[in-house]
Amino acid sequence: PVPAFIDGLVAQMTLTEKAGQLTIMPAAWAGGVAVALNPAGNGPGFEQQLEEVRQMQLAGVFNGNGAEMARRMQNVAMKESRLKIPLLFAADVIHGHRTIFPVPVGEAASFEPDLAERTARMASYEAAAAGIDWTFAPMVDIARDQRWGRTMEGAGEDVHLGNLMAAARVRGFQGRNLKAADAMMACAKHFAAYGAAEAGLDYNSVDISERTLREVYLPPFKSALDEGVMTFMASFNELSGVPATGNEWLMRGILRGEWGFEGFVVSDYTGDMEMIDHGFAKDSREAAKLAFLAGVDMSMTSGFYRKHLPELVEAGEVPVARVDESVRKVLAIKAALGLFDDPFRRIDVKREKARSRTRPAQALSREAGRKSIVLLKNEGDLLPLPKSGKKIAIIGPFASGKHDLNGPWVVYGANDYAVDLAEGVRAAVSDKNNVTVTAGSGVDEAIPGGIDAAVAAARAADVILLAIGENEAMSGEAQSRTEIVVPEAQQALAEAVAAVGKPVVVVLKNGRALALQGAVANASAVLVTWFLGTESGNATADILFGDYSPSARLPCSFPRSPGQQPYYYAHKSTGRPNPSDDKLEPYKAHYRGIPNSALYPFGHGLTYGKVDYSGLKVAPALAWDGALTVTATIANRGTRAVEEVVQLYIRDRTASITRPVRELKAFRKLRLAPGASETVTFKLDRSLLLFIGRDNKPTVEPGTFDVWIAPSAEAAGLHAQFELTA
Ligand code: IFM
Repeated sequence: PVPAFIDGLVAQMTLTEKAGQLTIMPAAWAGGVAVALNPAGNGPGFEQQLEEVRQMQLAGVFNGNGAEMARRMQNVAMKESRLKIPLLFAADVIHGHRTIFPVPVGEAASFEPDLAERTARMASYEAAAAGIDWTFAPMVDIARDQRWGRTMEGAGEDVHLGNLMAAARVRGFQGRNLKAADAMMACAKHFAAYGAAEAGLDYNSVDISERTLREVYLPPFKSALDEGVMTFMASFNELSGVPATGNEWLMRGILRGEWGFEGFVVSDYTGDMEMIDHGFAKDSREAAKLAFLAGVDMSMTSGFYRKHLPELVEAGEVPVARVDESVRKVLAIKAALGLFDDPFRRIDVKREKARSRTRPAQALSREAGRKSIVLLKNEGDLLPLPKSGKKIAIIGPFASGKHDLNGPWVVYGANDYAVDLAEGVRAAVSDKNNVTVTAGSGVDEAIPGGIDAAVAAARAADVILLAIGENEAMSGEAQSRTEIVVPEAQQALAEAVAAVGKPVVVVLKNGRALALQGAVANASAVLVTWFLGTESGNATADILFGDYSPSARLPCSFPRSPGQQPYYYAHKSTGRPNPSDDKLEPYKAHYRGIPNSALYPFGHGLTYGKVDYSGLKVAPALAWDGALTVTATIANRGTRAVEEVVQLYIRDRTASITRPVRELKAFRKLRLAPGASETVTFKLDRSLLLFIGRDNKPTVEPGTFDVWIAPSAEAAGLHAQFELTA
């Protein structure tokens, strides 16, 4: 509900001031100081920005730095501007503020929404003390093509996991009370289908059916909204011919009309301006008009609303009532954040320092780190390693050094504060002299003599930790890759080290799924460690030496070859499915020479236990208004405590719209002591069997369904069938 005083405020505003309230700009403040030109290079310096505040030409700024900047700007707004409307401070707090948590795709691998909620809460606790009211997170885009660099910022390829993670992050950022000084408002981005960019090329066109949009790409947004997210960010991409930023059907039709969203939509950076390059708007005036009328309430960075909205209203091309409606929403949200009660509630220089990188935050970063690491393979139970008695050679460009630990999309955290792999390993073992560190190769280029040094180190060791993969610059925004493999120089290093014949543990650094090949795929053990943030090295050591049994699962399938992209487990069956990976049959659907399956599918991940699944019980029929229980017994026959992610998949065998070969509908993370077993129970009802029908509306049809309880999307697991009866 919009507080009554807001109407009074809107009534006093000039058109120019209203357009200012619908404008946000990058802050002209970098590295703790005012700058002459804003960091984006396309705006005024700090003094001029203060003048804009005085003139009520800004709703707020983003990606500034710290409470000191916010205090100075807010002072001007509250003391020197005509109507004293508080500013809103926004930032990309994506996976932590100063304490950095794993990149979101890594955290999704935990299959623990509660963990994502807690890290988001901690990020708010740190960031809000620095004056930040609003984070441009969570990114809830489903990513089914791993060439796309922003895979690292979402929850992976699956809709169900994506829904849960979206809601958890909103809960975490916003907390229970948005007025609290440690709550930040969240922003669900990028609306919509940004992750479906053709060929995985960031910013590229998207052309998908309305059904796929509704079934795959929209649900995490709806889930964020149901959790109370108050802002959305329009995406850069066009959607079947209409840029999302100018897409009335998306923003007014679906978001506001069907879903009843009452908050505001912000453009993504120069998204309105980019409609000119899309070939949708002829100039800045038309771009402003199209974006605004389509439902973008606030323009970021381009300044187009400030420049054109007043004249568009005066020319009768934009109704003033629509401008008032958007301004009201922005002001209502400022009120919901408590800014009208106390504009300085989140701005506190002392609190900012006191809350930066606290011990509980570091402990949480370590917990999140180890819960994000996926063990892909572990031949001969090579892992965990003993803490003494073994000579360990850490080899690779990520073996040591304060770089590439935090990962992409970190505005405020520094790698200098993060723990690297060598530090983590040395802190864990009993004799540090047993650990050697050799880079062996650069990330992209060979180092002269590097391979010789690495081979010598490997020869002198009992076990090798091969720290290879992608650096921070290889994923994130605008970082699409065609060959999603370990870079050539590092692959050469891996081959040379493997040839020494010692056991190799690959410690992979990555922001997306990679196609592992040669010596990397053939290593005895492979750990997917993503970018883990502040406690990287310690969290990895927790897993390497068995202080924690790996419990994470892949949120995105690792393909056999880059050419399989886009690859996702929930694909449809062709009319000529190849019956088995072992035999590639002629005139059946497969690429030449490789099976269609993933090397490691969604949901895959090993533990240090020996977990087995048995005793599936499913009633043969589900009545239309009834419920059905699915139970199975999960036992840990190993000698170590584990956490097992038990997954429930279904397939609708025959329907009026073809259905995926499997869909995740539920999962449970069980803790199992050595020798323990547990009966896990899932309840199914018809709401879990819904799909988007021929009329693009949710529907469910009676018929036969497969159900699996399995440790991954492509594992045989336990299987049964049931009938949904009308
Ligand atoms: O929030 C981001 C968005 O995800 C990508 N473009 C820039 C925005 C603001 O920094």
